[in-house]
Amino acid sequence: MKDRVVSGYRPSGRLHLGHYHGNLKTMMRLQETNDCYFFVADWHALTTDYRDTSNLGIYTTEMVLDWLAAGLDPGKCTIYRQSDIESIPEIVLYFSIITTLGELERCPTYKEQLRELDSRGVNTYGFLGYPVLMATDILIVDAELVPVGEDQEPHLELTRDIARRFNSLYGRTFPEPRAILSPSPKIPGTDGRKMSKSYNNHIGLDDEPEEIRQKVRKMITDPARARRQDKGHPGTCSVFKLYEAYPEVDSRKRADECSEATVGCTDCKDEIAGVIARDMAGLRAKRRELAGNPDVVSEILAAGADVVRPIAGEVLGRVRDAMNIGNL
Ligand code: TRP
Ligand code: SF4
Repeated sequence: MKDRVVSGYRPSGRLHLGHYHGNLKTMMRLQETNDCYFFVADWHALTTDYRDTSNLGIYTTEMVLDWLAAGLDPGKCTIYRQSDIESIPEIVLYFSIITTLGELERCPTYKEQLRELDSRGVNTYGFLGYPVLMATDILIVDAELVPVGEDQEPHLELTRDIARRFNSLYGRTFPEPRAILSPSPKIPGTDGRKMSKSYNNHIGLDDEPEEIRQKVRKMITDPARARRQDKGHPGTCSVFKLYEAYPEVDSRKRADECSEATVGCTDCKDEIAGVIARDMAGLRAKRRELAGNPDVVSEILAAGADVVRPIAGEVLGRVRDAMNIGNL
């Protein structure tokens, strides 16, 4: 039996190169071999942005179109939206009853985001319970494998704890899912930090070649190379990290040229910007074509919900039976 796979993205609009070289490639690989469920985590998006919800629809559409352009194929995986699956909140309720406050307060992402997003008023019950919602997303489709970024590992840990606790309290109901982690800073942002829209240091999946060139040109290189004839240290240069993400370029040769000062930073940057632009050309064209027909998104989400609702309903039935809910 193939392991069942689930993963979700918050609808935050357009995707970038960091998503593409991180988790998205893993998802694309898994859709070829496994039974995959990929969803738009719109309830999750609410937990940090509940005041202004006006962009939820457009962000969902944009993100699904980017998924499709990148190569997720609704013929090979099931694409759906979290809020279309009505059984989720009921399971969230049961899980929230068996999860302790301490477990939630100990999640590193909770403390971190509470500090970072303080101004958005995220000190709420729903935000604290975010990992319970995530555990439900995973367990409600009986998933065994969860491709996610490294930062999500503590949530997977808690998901396994919840599954284990539920099984020991009410009898074996859930498999214990495993994470497939993609290292997050594989691709640096243009300022050297992790690539993220909130840092505004991203290269968009459909940036035009000239835009990519401009962004790469602005990147900080090895500070030791103040002049063209200074020898560089590729290990300390973010531009070089971009080289390493593209196996089709000879990064060893580039490293030698950099340390021997036989290539200048401007040429080095323009070259990798060209590689990125060419690699994205197919995606850009497909994205443009899809943008002319955004109705595909509602069709795909409706079909996905039709597949997932019965699965989630069956799992919910098992949960209710195990807990003696609704029985006389
Ligand atoms: N928490 C994830 C993130 O912020 C998104 C997510 C929600 C998710 N539910 C999930 C990922 C279930 C994998 C499985 O990136
Ligand atoms: Fe970085 Fe390339 Fe300049 Fe070397 S030559 S410091 S790798 S930009």
